[in-house]
Amino acid sequence: MSNQSFTITDNRTGKQYEVPVEYSTIKAKDLRQIKVDPEEFGTMTYDPGYDNTASCKSAITFIDGDKGILRYRGYPIEQLAEQSTFLEVAYLLIFGELPNKEQLAQWEFEIMHHTFLHENMTQLFHAYRYDAHPMGMMISALAFMSTLHKEASNVENADIRLKQVYRILGKLPTVAAFCYRHRIGRPFNYPNADMGYAENFLYMLDYMYQTNYEVNPVLAKALDVLFILHADHEQNASTSVMRSIGSAYADPYSAMAGAAAALFGPRHGGANEAVVKMLNEIGDAKNVPIYVDRVKKGEFRLMGFGHRVYKNYDPRAKIIKKIAYDVFDVTGTNPLIDVAVALEQHALEDDYFVSRKLYPNVDFYSGIIYQAMRFPPDMFTVLFTLGRAPGWLAQWSEMITDSDQKIARPRQIYLGTDERNYVPVAERG
Ligand code: CMC
Repeated sequence: MSNQSFTITDNRTGKQYEVPVEYSTIKAKDLRQIKVDPEEFGTMTYDPGYDNTASCKSAITFIDGDKGILRYRGYPIEQLAEQSTFLEVAYLLIFGELPNKEQLAQWEFEIMHHTFLHENMTQLFHAYRYDAHPMGMMISALAFMSTLHKEASNVENADIRLKQVYRILGKLPTVAAFCYRHRIGRPFNYPNADMGYAENFLYMLDYMYQTNYEVNPVLAKALDVLFILHADHEQNASTSVMRSIGSAYADPYSAMAGAAAALFGPRHGGANEAVVKMLNEIGDAKNVPIYVDRVKKGEFRLMGFGHRVYKNYDPRAKIIKKIAYDVFDVTGTNPLIDVAVALEQHALEDDYFVSRKLYPNVDFYSGIIYQAMRFPPDMFTVLFTLGRAPGWLAQWSEMITDSDQKIARPRQIYLGTDERNYVPVAERG
C-alpha cells in the first residue's frame, strides 16, 4: 500500500478503499467506487461555490491567502507592479515567461495593431440609451465580435487562438472607450497605435480635438499598474466561467462575454462601483461607527472587504493605496479617501471583522482612484474587465491544451419529488 494514499473505511459496509493523494488532493472520481449497493451511483463530494475543490491544475497564478502572497508565473505582484508594464505582464501570463526585447516589441506591435473595431460595431453602441450600463454594452460587444471573427470557433488551432488574443487585448480598450463616448454624447476617437496601451485608452476617452493634447503620464502609468494588479487571480468566479464556457469549445469572445457577466456582479468585479456608492452614503468619517454597526447587525456587507482566498490581507490593496496618492497629486484629492481610511481603521480594530479575517480587498481603493480620474462609477467594472482580459485568455488557453480537461458538467444532489403522474389542469384541485 502506498503511503501517498488515504484508506477510507465505509462504516455503512465496513469495506476499506485506498485512494491516492497527490498535491494534498484526492480525485473526486476515486470516491465513486464507494457504495452500499452495486446499483447505486456511488459517493460524490458536495461543495457549493467550489470552496474546497480544485477544478484544474494550473501554472499561471499562485496565491497564498494566509500569507497575502500573489505571484504571476512565479513573479511577485509587487515586483511586477513596480517594474513591469501591463502588456509585458499579459505576455508573461499567456506564454509563461517574460519576453526578450524583440518578443516584447513584436507583441506590443501586434496588440496595438489590432485595436480598430469593425465599423458595424459603432451601430451597436448607438443602439444603447445614453444611460445604459457600460458593462451590458461590453458584454454584448464581446458577443458581437464573435459574429465577426468566425474562425475563432476553431479553438484547437494554436495560431487561430493567438490571433484572437491579439484582437481581444487590442480591441477591448476601444470598446470601453466607445461605450464611454457614447454615453457622454461625444464622437468616437479612433485608436492611435503610436501610443502605449493605457495612454491610447485615456486618449480615446478624453481627446476633444485640442491642439497640443497630451495624456498625463502619471495617470497612464497608474492605470497601467491597476491593470497589472487585476490581470489574473486564478480560479475566481469569472475565470471559472471563462473555463466553463470554453470547455464546451465555444469561441473565446462568447466565453469572455460570460466571464464579463460574472465579473459584473457586486460580489465580484462590481464591488469597486459598490464601494464608492457605500462611501458616498457614509458621507463623512464621523458616520463610520454607525455604518459599521449596521453591517454587524447583518443589514448589508461592507463592500471592498473580505475575500474568499485572502485571510490576512490582499497584497493588491496595499499597492493600490499607494497609487491613490500618486494620482491625487495630479487630480487633487478625493474626499472619499478620508472616509475610506477611517472605515478601514475602524473595521480593522473591530472584533467582527478581525475574527472573520475580513480585510480591504483590491476593490476597496481602486474605485476611489478611478473616481479621482473622473471615471463615472459604472465604468469601474469595465476597467476591471480590461485588466482581467489577459488572465481569462491565459486560463482559457491553458484549459484548451490540458488533456485532463473535459466539458464542465457538475453533479447535483437531487432532493426533489419522486416520480409522479401528470394530472390534466381540469382535474387539479
Ligand atoms: N462585510 C461584512 N461581513 C462579511 C463580509 C463583508 N464584506 N464578507 C464576509 N462577511 C461575513 C459573512 O457575513 C460571514 O459571516 P458569518 O460567518 O457570521 O455568517 C463571514 O464573513 C464569511 O463570509 P462568506 O460569505 O462565507 O465568505 P466568502 O469567502 O464566501 O465571500 C466575498 C467572499 C468576497 C464574496 C465576501 O467577503 C463579500 O461579499 N465581500 C464584499 C464584496 C466584495 O468586496 N467583493 C470583491 C471581492 S475581491 C475582487 C473580486 O474578486 O472581484
